[in-house]
Amino acid sequence: MATNGGTVMKTRILPVSAPAASLGQFADPTTLDKWVLPVEEIPALKEAAVHLLSSSIPVAFPTETVYGLGADATRSPAVKGIYAAKGRPSDNPLIIHVSDLTMLRALLTKPNTTEPIQDKDVDPIPAIYKPLIKRFWPGPLTILLPNPQPSHLAPEVTAGLPTFGARMPSSQLALSLISLCGVPLAAPSANASTKPSPTTAEHVLHDLDGRIEIILDGGPCQVGVESTVVDGLCDPPVVLRPGGISLDSIKECAGWESVVKGYKDASEIGSCAPRAPGMKYKHYSPKATVVLYESRAPKPAIIGEEGSKVGIIRTKTWSSFLLPASTSASPIQTSTAYTIQQGLLASSPAAEALEISLGAEIKDIAHSLFSALRDLDARGVQLIYVEGIEDEGDIAAAVMNRLRKAASEIVG
Ligand code: TXA
Ligand code: MG
Repeated sequence: MATNGGTVMKTRILPVSAPAASLGQFADPTTLDKWVLPVEEIPALKEAAVHLLSSSIPVAFPTETVYGLGADATRSPAVKGIYAAKGRPSDNPLIIHVSDLTMLRALLTKPNTTEPIQDKDVDPIPAIYKPLIKRFWPGPLTILLPNPQPSHLAPEVTAGLPTFGARMPSSQLALSLISLCGVPLAAPSANASTKPSPTTAEHVLHDLDGRIEIILDGGPCQVGVESTVVDGLCDPPVVLRPGGISLDSIKECAGWESVVKGYKDASEIGSCAPRAPGMKYKHYSPKATVVLYESRAPKPAIIGEEGSKVGIIRTKTWSSFLLPASTSASPIQTSTAYTIQQGLLASSPAAEALEISLGAEIKDIAHSLFSALRDLDARGVQLIYVEGIEDEGDIAAAVMNRLRKAASEIVG
């Protein structure tokens, strides 16, 4: 069992079975100023909140994107607990999660200041973000904000940067947890560092068993890839990480027409492929070696060594690589939206293959991608072949960004 600083903990999954409608609501959904907790107390949420406020061991909780590993963002020992549990380098800043705009505004003003009181009529939220907040919050968008000095936030949150990243998740469970705590929660994705982000409570348990005490289980995450991270404090504004909100829809917002990509896409990465195995920047990676085929690459002939087991993730166009179902393929049910077909490779029947079809819809691909990588890993494949998709539109850019980072080799 894994340990956190030498201590082995008992990790419990606490299911939150309340229907979404009874998990709280905004007093006024047009202002997002105040999140109102449900009338009836939800024991698992209460227990998690008490733990978050009294201990320095983080709590895993679901958001609409991926599971987060949360800690009180105002307390240094609690934030340090995140880095310890994940094995994350402490120079990578964390996203702050708020339950409403009142909580965010408080973070933008200095604590216990003796300076003249800021003009109450001036909103501390920079104007550039207003159209984004109006359109995309609560939801999978993270904005960079100036961190006042002194700050309410523990210095470990920002890793020495003058800004902090903030988002208001749309998961009602997450909003009620933050609101119950009454403090913002710093939360990276709840995977062990370098692994694919977790989209179920079981994924979190797999990575962090023995390292944390509580995992709140709200079922599989809806979106499946992390939030889009944007910086509107520079000119032109930049998308630092593609995610649950598309670049095209950000461009439609006032002040964001000239937004630029601050990450590499197919035009920069695909052209120099294949990259040498082992030379990659490891991130989102299962144990198995991932070989990514860009959407423009022809369907490969997959040859497996005798007795080996390969994994295949199909998306829009690839047909099955297995010997016809009647002779060899057998479906394995999973807890997620797909089944795994198990059989022999048609092109080299001495090798076995586990094949997952995520379908042609980008939302379905995003929803199940990390799960599929983890499922194939858990079933002991050594190599995973993935059919890539076009970067354009919706959250395809986020899917391909994660896949290119997970891949040891890119063909296309
Ligand atoms: O959907 C999500 O964003 C999930 C859920 C749990 O909310 N969280 C997440 O956190 O993906 P994490 O820590 O795995 O990724 C945070 C990203 C990193 O790429 C980090 O470098 C960037 O946000 N980031 C955070 N604060 C920043 C800052 N002040 N300046 C630049 N980048 C920042
Ligand atoms: Mg992460």
